[in-house]
Amino acid sequence: MRIGIIGAGQLGRMLALAGYPLGSRFRFLDRSPDAPGAQVGEIVLGRFDDPDKLSALADGVDLMTFDVENVPGSLLHAIAARLPFLPPVSALEITQDRLSEKKLFGELGIATPRWQAVDDLASLNDAVADIGRPSVLKTRRLGYDGRGQSILTRDSDLESVYRRFDGVPLILEQFIDYEREVSVIGARSTRCECVFYPLAENVHRDGILRYSIAPFGDSQLQAAAEDYLQRLFERFDYAGVLTIEFFVVDGALVANEIAPRVHNSGHWTIEGAVTSQFENHIRAIRGLPLGSTEARGHSAMINFLGEMPALEPVLSIPGAHYHDYGKTPRPQRKLGHCTITAATPAERDAALDRLLALGGIDGPG
Ligand SMILES: Nc1ncnc2c1ncn2[C@@H]1O[C@H](COP(=O)(O)OP(=O)(O)OP(=O)(O)O)[C@@H](O)[C@H]1O
Ligand SMILES: [Mg+2]
Repeated sequence: MRIGIIGAGQLGRMLALAGYPLGSRFRFLDRSPDAPGAQVGEIVLGRFDDPDKLSALADGVDLMTFDVENVPGSLLHAIAARLPFLPPVSALEITQDRLSEKKLFGELGIATPRWQAVDDLASLNDAVADIGRPSVLKTRRLGYDGRGQSILTRDSDLESVYRRFDGVPLILEQFIDYEREVSVIGARSTRCECVFYPLAENVHRDGILRYSIAPFGDSQLQAAAEDYLQRLFERFDYAGVLTIEFFVVDGALVANEIAPRVHNSGHWTIEGAVTSQFENHIRAIRGLPLGSTEARGHSAMINFLGEMPALEPVLSIPGAHYHDYGKTPRPQRKLGHCTITAATPAERDAALDRLLALGGIDGPG
């Protein structure tokens, strides 16, 4: 079974590493010959919006998936007509645009921050009058790691903020003074089998995920999150892994966004769950039975941004697992991560504190 992956980033690399034991072989499309996936598969060099390169990737594979979200849906319909392309193009298209994503949440009865579409300065003024401040102005497309966002405070000058966005379509969201952020990850197979991982709690700094802790262990929120994921699964007749990011406000879930793929907040599942999100994605799109999502003890995952810590001090921490994606360092770039697995929350937190110090990250609080 040969699988083509659009994008050869760390997610693609981890998908391939999980897929080899199941007999899958991998080929990637990426602009960079030394993307992380190049270590574990053949790279077709090219842009994600080049129809000829997409077609070249499709040649010689049996099944296609993606590790990036910014592939034009219009080009993927032709691919999906040729060979199985999963998760479905419809899920990718809707989640590429924060406006259609918010509308979908509304249709499915999933709470979100209040929002308004912003297409010009006049509609920004109207939206601010309606939603108030603080609020968050975001590009509708192409945002990641908090890029393409601006928080509007009482002092913000709307006209100059608007100009910085260069006329691209925007959305204004209510700023949520959340208690926590959590995410749920699940998988649905082409045989309609569904599994759900325990919620992870996620801590961001400057819009970038710094660390996750799992299982979060709130059975009511877990049930609500699984119900929401199930609604999305059915809506898209989904196959593969799907993630929803939430804010927790007054003890309830408010949806932030969807990722129709494996997710950074699920990296802990490689060592911390019976079956990883990556293996379950491969199983799901191949129509194989899904694996148990049960947590093995208590895990924490921290991202290494801009710089990798040395191996020795990390590996001397009990239960630590080091992942180096082999990327060229750049400030704030995700270069690798480390997962800690421990028998108790107290042991996990002690190990996490040591790791956060190595990664140059402030701990909780
Ligand atoms: N409406 C909001 N209220 C409060 N905080 C927010 C809001 N929107 C975003 N944030 C903060 O910024 C982070 C990144 O936002 P968001 O998930 O929308 O961006 P992104 O660029 O798509 O990130 P990624 O794709 O890396 O998850 C959120 O996890 C949260 O910490
Ligand atoms: Mg996000």
